[in-house]
Amino acid sequence: MAIDGPAGSGKSTVGAEVARRLGALYFDTGVVYRTLALVASERGIPPDDAERLAEVARTLALRVGPPSVDDGRLYDVYVDGRDVTWEIRSPEIDKLASQVSVHPQVRRALLRLQREIARNGRVVMAGRDIGTVVMPDAPVKIWLQASLEERARRRQRDLAKRGIVQPLEAIVAELAERDRRDATRATAPMRQAEDAVIVDTDGKSIEEVVETVLAIVRERCGCADHGADSSSVATVPSP
Ligand code: DC
Repeated sequence: MAIDGPAGSGKSTVGAEVARRLGALYFDTGVVYRTLALVASERGIPPDDAERLAEVARTLALRVGPPSVDDGRLYDVYVDGRDVTWEIRSPEIDKLASQVSVHPQVRRALLRLQREIARNGRVVMAGRDIGTVVMPDAPVKIWLQASLEERARRRQRDLAKRGIVQPLEAIVAELAERDRRDATRATAPMRQAEDAVIVDTDGKSIEEVVETVLAIVRERCGCADHGADSSSVATVPSP
């Protein structure tokens, strides 16, 4: 199934829990763009150098797997054997990931990797273009949304847990800019698929949203109760 929506709409938390209850794999595609942004910035590649970014994207030695450390992470993210799980969650990478993801060459290079994961069978994939581009045939498509203010408050809480303090106004401005960039790029913009079900998460608990999504899965394909509680995180092999 596909779960799309803007930053802070709850995709990661909800997606991981829905996958666990469905006994499915979970894969958060934002990780791929974030890791590319981190590697590119470490190599001094500017976010507008589409060719060099695509080259890095084609050879990204990324590994995503079940969490090996009990520090609040939903999964491990390794690149070139290095644990970058938290490094890719900095405010700087939030912005850079959105910037590197606008280039068609980059998206093409990363599409293959995402489709390989989608072929793994039962998978819950979260992102911006999963229902429209990566898995257009997914039997269930969810579009998660929440107001800008609510998303900013969630983001502020998440950052605070990691000791990063940012004023709410700065987070609102950053999210608005990211929404605009992600939704207006020419290739695979953030957009709800025509057959997606919209789930508004404003004022709802994670459990309420998870239950709503599972009810939609049951209605759409009657597969919500198979193999529950046996999920894991999709493992991405290095190229
Ligand atoms: O979901 P996220 O906040 O981790 O995503 C970070 C950035 O990656 C997002 O601003 C745009 C890009 N992205 C994308 O273009 N397509 C996806 N399917 C997932 C993320």
